[in-house]
Amino acid sequence: MTSTPELLIGQTLDFPADPFEAGWDVVRHDARGAILIENGRIAATGTADDLRRSHPTARITDYGDALILPGFIDAHVHYPQTGIIASWGKRLIDWLNDYTFPEELRFSDPGYARQAAKLFFDLSLAHGTTTVSSFCTVHPASVDAFFAEAQARGLCAVGGKTCMDRNAPDGLTDTAQSAYDDSKILLERWHGQDRLRYAVTPRFSPTSTREQLQALGALWAEHPDCPMQTHLSEQTDEVAWVRDLFPEARDYLDTYEAAGLLGPGAMFGHAIHLTERERARLKEAGAALIHCPTSNTFIGSGLFDLAGLKSGGQTVGLATDTGGGSSFSMLRTMAAAYEIGQLRSRPPHPAELLWLATEGSARALRLDDRIGRLAPGCDADLVVLDLASTPVIAQRAARAETIWVAVFPTIMMGDDRAIREVRILGRPVDRVFEAR
Ligand code: GUN
Ligand code: ZN
Repeated sequence: MTSTPELLIGQTLDFPADPFEAGWDVVRHDARGAILIENGRIAATGTADDLRRSHPTARITDYGDALILPGFIDAHVHYPQTGIIASWGKRLIDWLNDYTFPEELRFSDPGYARQAAKLFFDLSLAHGTTTVSSFCTVHPASVDAFFAEAQARGLCAVGGKTCMDRNAPDGLTDTAQSAYDDSKILLERWHGQDRLRYAVTPRFSPTSTREQLQALGALWAEHPDCPMQTHLSEQTDEVAWVRDLFPEARDYLDTYEAAGLLGPGAMFGHAIHLTERERARLKEAGAALIHCPTSNTFIGSGLFDLAGLKSGGQTVGLATDTGGGSSFSMLRTMAAAYEIGQLRSRPPHPAELLWLATEGSARALRLDDRIGRLAPGCDADLVVLDLASTPVIAQRAARAETIWVAVFPTIMMGDDRAIREVRILGRPVDRVFEAR
């Protein structure tokens, strides 16, 4: 079915290259830019004047001074933890045992999982996030609920069954064999359906035996086009625990590497406390590191070395990690990445933050041929940002002489009120909270 071409007019940014490598002055800003949408795809980009002239019959939607961006991509999140977001007072292992695992046990009820998936996507879209890579729970029905909801909304989404066969409560564990079998069934059911991708998903080495990691490594080897997602070196206590559990391993990464869980398409959440060997192997293997800044401060994990890892040539995506993360907003997530950069080495530039939340995460997911860029041929998943969404932001942005000064107050102080519109495959999303 073909649709009438539509021309979206507003401020636009074009990233011809990774600004961490090429510098932010290569980014092109059009104060009156335009994006032509045809059949759910981006057909052309340019100035509003040029595209109006070349496409005189296109329907026009003019967003004025609002900034049109690719929809945000949350490269690491736990949809089943929505109900326990902002649970206070614990560090990682106690936080998992006291808050997370009891909540994940509730997903044995498929009806609960369906309700949670609805609320999760309502919240993500309300914050301008158009693609997520989510952990589900151990229950296959939690994966079905996630993908069914994403599919009904036409979303590009990544998810997988979280596998654990030790150090977790009875109702949340599987075995090496059942993790392989259930993951394989789910992968065959969902991977490649519409815009959905299945991720092989061991939770982390402390909750998987060697046998389970090996089984999932074997499954991934059979489906190398799938992503693989897990956690790596988030807290020092966790790193020490892994050393005790895997005395033969050279380091934490080696527990995955030995099982065939390191390679292109692997996504490691957190990756804060890395050794030199781990950094070198991650880069050599073409794996991605996922920066989860609100989670890293909320759970007290540490300061991710964004500038050092990017200048070392690593692939890095950005993520909320809710419910360990304390916000659904990728704006708030960018703000936290800025603050952590200040504490660690250097604060990222607004261009770097916006790139990380879009193309950077898309690259980590190996989906940058489809999403994360305002480029002809890409799917028209978009977010339109109001750069004057609250009085304090508006008065600050009003003084701005460059787009970076104009957008930075929204990065630092913006929330869902800054999300003027979200589009999936070109169509505006009705952001109603059906699940409440
Ligand atoms: N490490 C293992 N599981 C989790 C989780 O659910 N959240 C976070 N932040 N870290 C983890
Ligand atoms: Zn996580």
